[in-house]
Amino acid sequence: MSTTTTTTTTTTTTTSTATAATGTTPADHEASPLFQPTRLVALRLKNRLVMAPMTRNRAGATGVPEPIMATYYAQRASAGLIIAEATTPNAVGATYPDIPAIYDDTHVAGWRRVTEAVREAGGQMFLQLQHGGRVGHPETSGLHPLAPSPVPLPGTIFTPSGHQETVVPQEMTEAQITATVADFAEAARRAVEAGFAGVEVHSANGYLLHQFLSNATNRRTDGYGGSVAHRIRFTVEVVRAVAEAIGPERVGVRIAPGVTANGMEEDDVEAVYPALLEALRDLGLAYLHVVFADPEQPLFHTLRAAWPGALIANPALPWPGPLPADGGRGAGERLLAAGADLVSLGRSFLANPDLVARMRAGAALNPIRDAHLMYVGGETGYTDYPTLT
Ligand SMILES: Cc1cc2nc3c(=O)[nH]c(=O)nc-3n(C[C@H](O)[C@H](O)[C@H](O)COP(=O)(O)O)c2cc1C
Repeated sequence: MSTTTTTTTTTTTTTSTATAATGTTPADHEASPLFQPTRLVALRLKNRLVMAPMTRNRAGATGVPEPIMATYYAQRASAGLIIAEATTPNAVGATYPDIPAIYDDTHVAGWRRVTEAVREAGGQMFLQLQHGGRVGHPETSGLHPLAPSPVPLPGTIFTPSGHQETVVPQEMTEAQITATVADFAEAARRAVEAGFAGVEVHSANGYLLHQFLSNATNRRTDGYGGSVAHRIRFTVEVVRAVAEAIGPERVGVRIAPGVTANGMEEDDVEAVYPALLEALRDLGLAYLHVVFADPEQPLFHTLRAAWPGALIANPALPWPGPLPADGGRGAGERLLAAGADLVSLGRSFLANPDLVARMRAGAALNPIRDAHLMYVGGETGYTDYPTLT
């Protein structure tokens, strides 16, 4: 299955370097709470490290996952849970070239190859459902982007013909909102059919659901805009519909309060997110996933106190910029101590298929090859990161 190659020399060198650098022993690393097994609703997780969803643009023009994606995810099956990359629930929701989709049978068949490979390798997966909203382009999807309001994404966006000026999105009608909610529910059903343990509804990072939450991108005057109750309504309707479709225990939600990705601005996170959690807290969902979680910030503790279920924290590591030498292990341990149940890491999993083993051993991590993160396709910087053994 795995195409990864490495040498014994790499193992010896990286392990001794890290131990010397941190002054800790492999036994110290083993003892970390990150490596303790736990439960996530019905799932038994072998550790508390979650691979964060990461778009890698290797699906091809029709959104069908390519076999190379099965290799990539199976290589990372030692994560307690993998949350597979943002996947569009309908054609108009496509953000960038070659992102995967989950709205027809070819998509289900492609994803099934991935989930089977991960299961054979001992891993478990959720699939992230993402509608781009204004983060899209007619050259990519063949359709005009839809959004809560006609407020364009600032700057340019990558398309099949390179970077293009963004377009002013069309304001969604109530009928389009209702249809989109139904598309999320149907996509969730298909994800389960494809072998995923559940789905993560993406309400973060400036995509459609996040656009509804913010006054800057949502200028509506109907029941989906204006007051906090109206702005959270779309996310709540999507999550409810998805939970009804596949069972709440199979549904997670990702939020990113105050994160400025994709031109987002939010001036009332202290009002919006507690209200959102209040509306979702009694549904019995699998988890809440908080992006750039920081235990030094009061908001993290507000969210923790407001959420009765499992909380996956994605630590606030330098972005952009080099990761700490420990790949986020220390930040993750601080989040567990502050009440998180699981810790998600993105770039460290991307560059280290055997991240869990490296962290357990206190071994050094592979450097990330930034030029191969997105849009380039192929094995380089995707399935060819070396493992220790
Ligand atoms: C190449 C790349 C692609 C990403 N794609 C997604 C995505 O599809 N969905 C999402 O919610 N976040 C995405 N993210 C954000 C990550 O899930 C994560 O929040 C971010 O990398 C910070 O975690 P880290 O510091 O451990 O990398 C992406 C990040 C990277 C580096």
